[in-house]
Amino acid sequence: MVGKSVVTLDDLSTNQILEMLHKAEYIDAHRKEVSHTCEGRVLATLFYEPSTRTRLSFETAMLRLGGKVIGFAGAQLASVTKGETISDTLKTVSNYVDVVAIRHPKEGAALVASRAASVPVINAGDGGHMHPTQTLADLATLQSRFGRITDLTVGLCGDLTFGRTVHSLIETLCRFGNVRFILISPDELKTPQYVIDRINATPTCSYVEVRDLASVIGDLDVLYMTRVQKERFFNEDDYLRLRDTYILDEEKLSLAKPHMAVLHPLPRVNEIAVEVDDDPRAAYFEQVKNGMLMRMALESSVVGDDLPGYEPLNPK
Ligand code: CP
Repeated sequence: MVGKSVVTLDDLSTNQILEMLHKAEYIDAHRKEVSHTCEGRVLATLFYEPSTRTRLSFETAMLRLGGKVIGFAGAQLASVTKGETISDTLKTVSNYVDVVAIRHPKEGAALVASRAASVPVINAGDGGHMHPTQTLADLATLQSRFGRITDLTVGLCGDLTFGRTVHSLIETLCRFGNVRFILISPDELKTPQYVIDRINATPTCSYVEVRDLASVIGDLDVLYMTRVQKERFFNEDDYLRLRDTYILDEEKLSLAKPHMAVLHPLPRVNEIAVEVDDDPRAAYFEQVKNGMLMRMALESSVVGDDLPGYEPLNPK
């Protein structure tokens, strides 16, 4: 994986994804031992869109590995306001750092960035397209809750059109197979066809599309709630009409299996009532922690720094 850019998780083999899960578990258990792994390295976080978790966890990951961080949060402070292209920015920043994490409102921006850069570029979310490191956090959460990432019935609920985390997660789970997807959304926010095509191309996976959460919640091992993505709507009235379509509260959760896991990439707005946070099925703050651990695994891997004492899952 040394030198590899990660624009989608298709950039990693299934073995490499499993290796990242294994590394993250090791890192969690050996935080002190790994704390000098990336000494002398620098990460750039180029965030052209707002973020709390993704940017701070990319940065914390590098700091916890002993490296340093530069970057900007908010394009208004960067030379893009003077008309600089993403390519020129990446050709410039490549001279300063060992790895770049980029978030951008336009689909495809991370791919453009990776082609221009001479260091690995990690997509931290490109418009409504993909969010591969959120998927790594999601997979780590499934692994820790169920001991597996296959043989699951996974409900994805809310904004399945613009929710990039949903697209990344479905595509990746299809690679591992044996998942039954229940896609829960209003008609206006259904899953894009290219994602449905991916499920259809996977013989061991299937899907149904439904509108009502309560009627299917009892079938689910995983309920992946999503926020309606206000920033990607063209029309404020449509957003206001759709934003509260689904609200998971204790009453709805009482219909679910006792070991169902509730995931959400966060931030949430109204779609999960705060009362759910204390339910043992709520896994979304575990996801946050897993996001940092998986980014530590990924950053150390793409810059080529070995974790002291780590035994690879797949030795070369
Ligand atoms: N999950 C996620 O991408 O959160 P942020 O937008 O806060 O980074």
